[in-house]
Amino acid sequence: MRKELIDPFNRKIEYVRVSVTDKCNYRCGYCMPEQGVHPDGTHTEYLSYDELARIIKAFVNLGVAKVRLTGGEPLVRKNLSSLVEQISQYEGLEDIALSTNAHHLGREAEALHKAGITRANISIDSLRVERFKNITRGGDLEKVLAGVDKALEVGMQPIKFNMVVMKGTNDDEIEAMVDYGLEKGVEVRFIETMPIGPAGVSMMDQHYPADKILARVKKHVGKDLIPASGKSHDGPSRNFLIAGTNTKIGVISAVSQHFCETCNRVRLTAKGILALCLGQEDSVDLRTPLREGITDEGLEQLITDAMLKKPEKHFFNENVHNIEFRQMVQLGG
Ligand code: GTP
Ligand code: 5AD
Ligand code: SF4
Repeated sequence: MRKELIDPFNRKIEYVRVSVTDKCNYRCGYCMPEQGVHPDGTHTEYLSYDELARIIKAFVNLGVAKVRLTGGEPLVRKNLSSLVEQISQYEGLEDIALSTNAHHLGREAEALHKAGITRANISIDSLRVERFKNITRGGDLEKVLAGVDKALEVGMQPIKFNMVVMKGTNDDEIEAMVDYGLEKGVEVRFIETMPIGPAGVSMMDQHYPADKILARVKKHVGKDLIPASGKSHDGPSRNFLIAGTNTKIGVISAVSQHFCETCNRVRLTAKGILALCLGQEDSVDLRTPLREGITDEGLEQLITDAMLKKPEKHFFNENVHNIEFRQMVQLGG
């Protein structure tokens, strides 16, 4: 029988979010401060693709069925397809997904899809060129929308749009985003801002609750929103089918209604720290033992033991998110 990772609250961990870099070509205000979060790490501080692949293999041997590649922005790391190619060989890994700002997707989508990326979640917080540029501090909406079209064209399926809703900044575009999703046949997920890292904390006065978003979507489409059930390795979104269409919308309500009792995931940072919860400090360093020559069995044991440290739920205390890797751009969302 295949092994399983079970945490102290009897949750099965089958989803690993792997940050391949903590760098990004954008600078969204809720994710990182204007000046960035570095000093940049030296090259050797980051896990190589071989090291990442080895850790992912250990997770797959332990029952993980889904890996999401994130960043920072994953596509700023060169030749990501080679990592995808490597891990797509692992038996039992059913789903290799990507979270991206799509800036480089026009260029990369085809190779990534060929290598084994089945699907992508794309951040789009505004459909207005100037506003998009402000939110991302320099982003290019046209390029992003071209990236979306390319991903659809090469057959990444499903694509999902992620919109972080910010009161007074982009909350007037909820309806426009629903229309864009309907036009493309793409699910739109509305995300509440979360107080992760100083940047996330600084945006909490713009928090906009999921129940209000849902009410506005319902009014806009003039149709029922039918709750949609998902797979066991799904992320935290609560999804709804727009009646009479094939399109879903979702809300990720980490602040107003948390979803920790069904948490099925852990995170690996680009420097090899296994972060057990997005909103808590608990973590285990995997890089040091890896570089000191740990065996495959030893690595699996280390990961299995790490699960015992997984906390019951996130605890968004604004004072605890200042240690080195607690910025959203480092945790990969
Ligand atoms: P699917 O696999 O398509 O369901 O995607 P996902 O929602 O798991 O991944 P994505 O990278 O698109 O993340 C969407 C939002 O969900 C981001 O804002 C993440 O920070 C947030 N998110 C994902 N997992 C967690 C979690 O465990 N806790 C909290 N608080 N937020 C999470
Ligand atoms: N609150 C909510 N969502 C966030 N993301 C990044 N930082 C935050 C935050 N503070 C989202 C991005 C992306 C996803 C991976 O995480 O918009 O869609
Ligand atoms: Fe980059 Fe995504 Fe963070 Fe924006 S939210 S700065 S696109 S990693």
